[in-house]
Amino acid sequence: MMQTRSPRDRVDGVPRGASEYMEWAKTRSHARFNLASSGVAAFPLADLGARIEDLEICGDSGYGYGPLQERLARKAGVDPGRVVHAIGTSMANFLVLAATAGPGDEVLIEEPTYSLLVDAARWLRLDVRRFPRRADEGFRLDPREVERAVTPRTRLVVLTNLHNPSSAFIPPEDLRVVGDAARSVGARVLVDEVYLESLAVLGRPSGSAVHLGPEFVVTSSLTKAYGLSGLRCGWAVADPDLARRMWRLNDLFGVNPAHPAERLSVFALDHLPRIAARARRNLEANADGANAFLAARPDLACSPVDGGMIAFPRLLRGDVEALCRRLRDRHETTVVPGRFFGAPDHFRLALGCAPETLEGGLERLARALDETD
Ligand SMILES: Cc1ncc(COP(=O)(O)O)c(C=O)c1O
Repeated sequence: MMQTRSPRDRVDGVPRGASEYMEWAKTRSHARFNLASSGVAAFPLADLGARIEDLEICGDSGYGYGPLQERLARKAGVDPGRVVHAIGTSMANFLVLAATAGPGDEVLIEEPTYSLLVDAARWLRLDVRRFPRRADEGFRLDPREVERAVTPRTRLVVLTNLHNPSSAFIPPEDLRVVGDAARSVGARVLVDEVYLESLAVLGRPSGSAVHLGPEFVVTSSLTKAYGLSGLRCGWAVADPDLARRMWRLNDLFGVNPAHPAERLSVFALDHLPRIAARARRNLEANADGANAFLAARPDLACSPVDGGMIAFPRLLRGDVEALCRRLRDRHETTVVPGRFFGAPDHFRLALGCAPETLEGGLERLARALDETD
């Protein structure tokens, strides 16, 4: 007989082993003017320039497909033995969580954050504690909050840089304070850097946290800043022992990625400047448009976008859920309701789309803000 879920399978009202946000993203975020999806618009295969001879169905992936390992290591500025290729940043994050902490171990996760990080940690039955990044401080990371939250039981501190949902940047001096706090109790720091790639795309590369010390583990992918989500080319960079543990753990899941995707990822990494140039045009045009829009709206409070690809305005009057409903039902436009970040008076606006999509979406957002139910 089929087992039904018991109420104990819910944590804070959310089912364990599921993501409310991802279900919403997959079933409710699609719209003509999609300002919900956070990556730059998809890069078409036809524009990549790869030939059929560049691909192969099967290959020697083992613990990493050599040519891909080599390129990812070069990109990260580390030895290939520190790189774990994974199915997107998503799987890389999961592997880091699962390889650094076990059931009952304490993990400290920023709040708000990308909810999948919390959902994955809860699925692993980790003891999830949160520390705040405050709206009235532009969601800047205050490293003293981490110092205060760390205990001898802490195994891992989890951050996003740039921050999802606000795009706030964590400077290296603040990361160092977090690293010192973690090291003092033998913990590690996971920094999800998937949005940091947008600074590289804009020609303002910022060093990865992985160079700040052995306690840092970083994850990223080609998804967000390059429009290459479908390649599922993610990675984690860690010390060699932890990297080996993650590879072994990965054997319990997909074993190997799809080899044609590995080959295409190698090709994409060899042509990254050309792919980045297109993303850069979109991001530059869209940041100006979005900042002008946000500055002109007295009903929204938001720090200007500076190098990021998402913004997280606070709605000063009215109800965000009603606004999102009006936008979707009357104006063919979607944004992400702040409830998915535990901030119900905010919504997340994505700037990676084609400039005409952003322009059309912002026009409609203005109309929806001016309307009432
Ligand atoms: C912070 C963060 N990490 C990871 C991901 C997933 O990225 P990927 O497509 O590389 O799995 C997202 C997607 O929204 C994200 O916001």
